[in-house]
Amino acid sequence: MHQNVEKILVSEEEIIQRCREMGQKINRDYAQKEPPLLVALLKGSVPFLAELIKHIDLDIEFDFMDVSSYAGTESTGEIKVIKDLDRPIKGAEILIVEDIVDTGRTLKTVRELLLSKGASSVKVITLLDKPDRRVVELEAEYVGFTIPNEFVVGYGLDFNQKYRNLPYIGVLKEECYK
Ligand code: IMP
Repeated sequence: MHQNVEKILVSEEEIIQRCREMGQKINRDYAQKEPPLLVALLKGSVPFLAELIKHIDLDIEFDFMDVSSYAGTESTGEIKVIKDLDRPIKGAEILIVEDIVDTGRTLKTVRELLLSKGASSVKVITLLDKPDRRVVELEAEYVGFTIPNEFVVGYGLDFNQKYRNLPYIGVLKEECYK
């Protein structure tokens, strides 16, 4: 375990197992529909996307979006699109892939943006959910793990851009961010 990590909240084995279960559910849910276009939000969702797609056997495509919130560390809901999708999405069945839903503001805004561009449906899959922190109404259709209100790193999640490469979800020691 990394020296700055206090405890492991979700192990690599648990993440892989949960990705398998969610992949199988997506296979069933989209069996009679157009295969979804997975829209992964950079950078945190990359390790999760990489594991998840191994368990999806539909003819999916994936693309990336990079958005940032305008002010401060708390996301405001007003977002700036830093990297947009490479193709038009009119009529597409979209599945947004996210690392964690916290206040829900980012995802609510991105979902509305994609719907306004003509997507047929916009659903959300997230590796982690912190429902205690929610300030807007947003429910992900697929949730890997519901976690308590603690600051976590690893498996894509960062603190000052570090720790994204840890193969598990861990709670960062308080002295590292206070
Ligand atoms: P929100 O749901 O709009 O508040 O923002 C979600 C984003 O906040 C995520 O994509 C993460 O980048 C970041 N975030 C929220 N909680 C954590 C955490 O515990 N560790 C690392 N990043 C987090």
